[in-house]
Amino acid sequence: MIRLCALDDIPENDAIGIRIADGEIMLLRDDGELRAFRNECPHLGIELNFQPDVFLDSDHAYIQCANHGALFQKHDGLCVFGPCQGQSLVAVPVQLVDGAVWLVTSS
Ligand code: FES
Repeated sequence: MIRLCALDDIPENDAIGIRIADGEIMLLRDDGELRAFRNECPHLGIELNFQPDVFLDSDHAYIQCANHGALFQKHDGLCVFGPCQGQSLVAVPVQLVDGAVWLVTSS
């Protein structure tokens, strides 16, 4: 497993990006639940955000792609509006251990 950050580094109802060897993981706290997705929009396969750690729409109701405005549900990453509607962000397995967020790796 790879340590990504402390849970407290992620504001409640907001998201942050953590760089790993092959890209970036978006970590999201959503009503007490921790979610993790690859920072990769299913529309063009590019990163969702223009500014660091800015992944949500203005109401913090959806994950929003800054490129063409696609909106994704926070709980499962499903796109509900935009050019990739019906497609999903790729969920990433993470575990919370002693207040730290760990990426679960296969090796
Ligand atoms: S790249 Fe995300 S909506 Fe187009």
